[in-house]
Amino acid sequence: MMMHPRARPRRTKPQGQPTRGKTGRNRLRRVDNFLLRYDPALLARQDGIWDDALFVDLGYGAEPFTTLESAARFRRVNPHLRVLGVEIDPARVATAQPYADDCTHFRHGGFNLPLAADTDGRCERARLIRAFNVLRQYDESQVAAAYALMAQAMMPGGLLIEGTSDPLGRRWVAWLMRAAGQAAGAGWQTEGLVFSASFQAPFDPSDFQAVLPKRLIHRVVEGEPIYTFFAEWKRAAKETVAWRAWGERTWFVATAERLAEAGYAIDLRRRWLRTGYLIWKDAG
Ligand SMILES: C[S@@+](CC[C@H](N)C(=O)[O-])C[C@H]1O[C@@H](n2cnc3c(N)ncnc32)[C@H](O)[C@@H]1O
Repeated sequence: MMMHPRARPRRTKPQGQPTRGKTGRNRLRRVDNFLLRYDPALLARQDGIWDDALFVDLGYGAEPFTTLESAARFRRVNPHLRVLGVEIDPARVATAQPYADDCTHFRHGGFNLPLAADTDGRCERARLIRAFNVLRQYDESQVAAAYALMAQAMMPGGLLIEGTSDPLGRRWVAWLMRAAGQAAGAGWQTEGLVFSASFQAPFDPSDFQAVLPKRLIHRVVEGEPIYTFFAEWKRAAKETVAWRAWGERTWFVATAERLAEAGYAIDLRRRWLRTGYLIWKDAG
């Protein structure tokens, strides 16, 4: 998909509200490393009509570190990857402009991404949207509308990763949502909920509760699936605590296996579990 040289982003009112802009260098490194392993083909593809599709960092914060770091990481598999940082705070867009180049853009916008207007029947699309530590500052009632707007921007088969991390990005939880259908705005299919532990701190399932995405953070109450999941995970941790003698990593793997035995669809591949990623596939 080529963008017409005269194409300009549509001017519509950015949807959302400015929030705290706290970010940090390499805060989202583990998110990027996960994505590079989870769907490298999506990042690398340069074939056909979607070869220009964007990686969008929605809500990059006070300074554009995360966008630029991800651009460098993802361009290892796709040197021509077009990258778009979107901020609802115009001052933060201005701060980022000196870092823009032919393939790296920073635009003022919201959940309704500022994509270039259709030209010759073609328009910009996102292959991947990362919205990290953004929706956490919204009301739960606003999440569905935000997701619906982001779906409008996706190419078929594109991915949204939406989640929350701790300040250093060592612990985070995120939804993996796949753009369903061929038409933009066709909606989302949940691919899983990822729990990421860097093992730089002791493993404890309860710690993930503080970094749940907005859709879940207020739902850790009896009767809700996420409550039952944590109860099971904590029980699994107790029952397998002997594994801790072989290290936190081994213990983490043992708890995942227990969760699977209890009927949860957990991805048990060692490439995920040994590196601290627990993917709960039927979380949606
Ligand atoms: C806490 S910072 C997160 C920065 C970075 N993503 C990170 O994880 O380190 C959240 C940023 O999202 C921006 N933001 C909030 N709502 C937004 C929206 N609807 N569209 C674009 N940016 C938004 C805020 O202005 C803020 O700078």
